[in-house]
Amino acid sequence: MSTLNKIARTLVSDRRGILAADESIGTMSTRLEKVGVEATAENRRVYRELIVTTPRLAESISGIILADETFHQKLSDGRTFPEFLNDIGILTGIKVDTGAKPLAGAPGEHVTEGLDGLRDRVKEYVRLGATFAKWRATITIGDNLPSATAVRANVHALARYAGLCQEGGLVPIVEPEVLMDGAHSLEQCRQVTTAVLQSLFEELDLMRVQLDGIVLKPNMVVAGTGSSQRPGVSDVARATVEALRETVPASVPGIAFLSGGQKPEVATAHLAAMQDIDPLPWELTYSFGRALVGPALETWRGDNGNWNAAQKALSERAVANAAAR
Ligand code: 13P
Repeated sequence: MSTLNKIARTLVSDRRGILAADESIGTMSTRLEKVGVEATAENRRVYRELIVTTPRLAESISGIILADETFHQKLSDGRTFPEFLNDIGILTGIKVDTGAKPLAGAPGEHVTEGLDGLRDRVKEYVRLGATFAKWRATITIGDNLPSATAVRANVHALARYAGLCQEGGLVPIVEPEVLMDGAHSLEQCRQVTTAVLQSLFEELDLMRVQLDGIVLKPNMVVAGTGSSQRPGVSDVARATVEALRETVPASVPGIAFLSGGQKPEVATAHLAAMQDIDPLPWELTYSFGRALVGPALETWRGDNGNWNAAQKALSERAVANAAAR
């Protein structure tokens, strides 16, 4: 078994999943301000310390994805975040993309950037303790969207990123997120998700990415937030598994879903329902951000008197998702 395959399997096995705590400085600042916390580097650090020091987290969380800022910060006891995670048996991931930017020639669509200098950054992150990485591409559904232009640009960047990570020894989490924003139906989401994944695996093949050394992080197939449709849990589970079955080779060790703005309990219910659909070639797990840490942030609100209650809120979501598996 290659080292990459071993890391990928560790991330998705034993009923554990991945916690995405890699919000950019901008996104994290907005989320802190929303709960009345001043958006400083220190407050972002304290909040991330609350997350990672949650008791018994390693029983349900295999890896935590950090943003560059957190990766270089220290806990109160002086250990860096990667050192601490290593000590408690959780793998350290690092978000390496530099964000989605407007795509030339494709009004209303974006391409994720960050390939320049990536080889050297990967080397440095590995030296400091990272074992896996993340890159998120976003795809918008709308009138005549997504365009072939945006899909191709995004899957190309994802595949180039994945190749560079594997060359440097990091397992790439490959995340093509079809966004929930919009009035689209479940069926439209299924079609777009299928087309994007199809195109992604063609590009990964072309770029010679080793499929047994990646983790795929897709959206679940859901109706848009502005749609009048309210598909049931089993509809979402079935449509999601169908899109994956049509496109994801069996050599991929695991699929770890993003939550994408679904309510925490709903995302968990969808994940649980997918496990009941018989035999699938890959592990199906979670790589949630908001659906794991949302309740904890709401509980903490910057008041350290709420510290234990906030950790309990995170722990409950983590345990529920592990149970869903
Ligand atoms: P959400 O689960 O909040 O969508 O975040 C997952 C993630 O890592 C997005 O890149």
